[in-house]
Amino acid sequence: MPKLVVVTRDGTEHEIEGETGLSVMEVIRDAGFDELLALCGGCCSCATCHVHVDTAFADKVPSMSEDENDLLDSSDHRNDSSRLSCQIPFDDSLDGLRVTIAQED
Ligand code: FES
Repeated sequence: MPKLVVVTRDGTEHEIEGETGLSVMEVIRDAGFDELLALCGGCCSCATCHVHVDTAFADKVPSMSEDENDLLDSSDHRNDSSRLSCQIPFDDSLDGLRVTIAQED
């Protein structure tokens, strides 16, 4: 299974394995990280699954939809690396992906 590196809000790195076919949000949630609230369950309407994607993977993750872009605008912690993790399908091409859970809004 491909690996995912999750950096929690205290700066700690955690390496986990993720099932392909899930979203990055689901991989993080299923591994038990409660910092990632993912309140809407992945339907792109809450922005509580906000992560920062390592720049090395910026070209590997799919581009964002207009809805995701609008929703991210509601966050005070948005920057160029911001994504909603429920909108990134996890697969072998993202092996080693490093994401940092965004600060809470
Ligand atoms: S889980 Fe709500 S937008 Fe991603």
